[in-house]
Amino acid sequence: MQKKVNAVRAFDPSSIEKPHGLTGFAWPAEFKDGAPWDLEIGCGVGWHPIKYAIDNPSRRLIAVEHTREKFESFQGRVFKHAQLKNLLPIHADAIRWVTHAIPAGSLDRIFLLYPNPEPKAANKRWLRMPFFQRLLETLAPGGTITLATNIESYFDEARVYGVEAWGLEIVGERRFNLATAPDEAPRTHFEKKYLERGETCFDVTFRKDRANLRP
Ligand SMILES: C[S@@+](CC[C@H](N)C(=O)[O-])C[C@H]1O[C@@H](n2cnc3c(N)ncnc32)[C@H](O)[C@@H]1O
Repeated sequence: MQKKVNAVRAFDPSSIEKPHGLTGFAWPAEFKDGAPWDLEIGCGVGWHPIKYAIDNPSRRLIAVEHTREKFESFQGRVFKHAQLKNLLPIHADAIRWVTHAIPAGSLDRIFLLYPNPEPKAANKRWLRMPFFQRLLETLAPGGTITLATNIESYFDEARVYGVEAWGLEIVGERRFNLATAPDEAPRTHFEKKYLERGETCFDVTFRKDRANLRP
């Protein structure tokens, strides 16, 4: 890990507008029964959240997507699985929604699967944004964040920022492609596309440790 870590500005919640959809929002009953909560940001057309919710009936997943066409496609799929009461699809900018709607310390797992790599705007990458401080606040101590990407430099940078800027512990990391993991079932639409193109995918899981959190 030799990359340089630039300072990340402190998060200022007053600079983040409340999302329109939050007025009148109430958590569904299933989200108030004490089951653990997870969050997926940028879930696209929803392959991962739907499978995850089916495979984890005792957990609750909030899945946020801001592109309207993708969200509508995701929501259409959710409607076909009427029994999926443990999945809450949210059409919003996750920065605004998470800042204003998710209580501190309420999440166990966060998924950032194949986020836009922002090649020309490093300060918009998730681990380089002030908002990441708020995202970490929503995580309970010991909670995890998993980030996947097909871009090795983004993976390397995320690992360095996770450890050095945010005091997280890396508890798992993988590099895989069709040659090394021929039986790997793609978790997302983008993962499928990258694996079929013969590319290598990367993922890293960080754990939040209360002792290492910055004030
Ligand atoms: C490259 S796509 C990956 C989609 C999906 N995770 C997959 O792997 O197939 C990134 C997604 O993140 C969404 N996204 C980016 N920024 C977001 C934000 N601030 N809030 C919610 N969704 C966001 C985009 O609309 C897009 O659907």
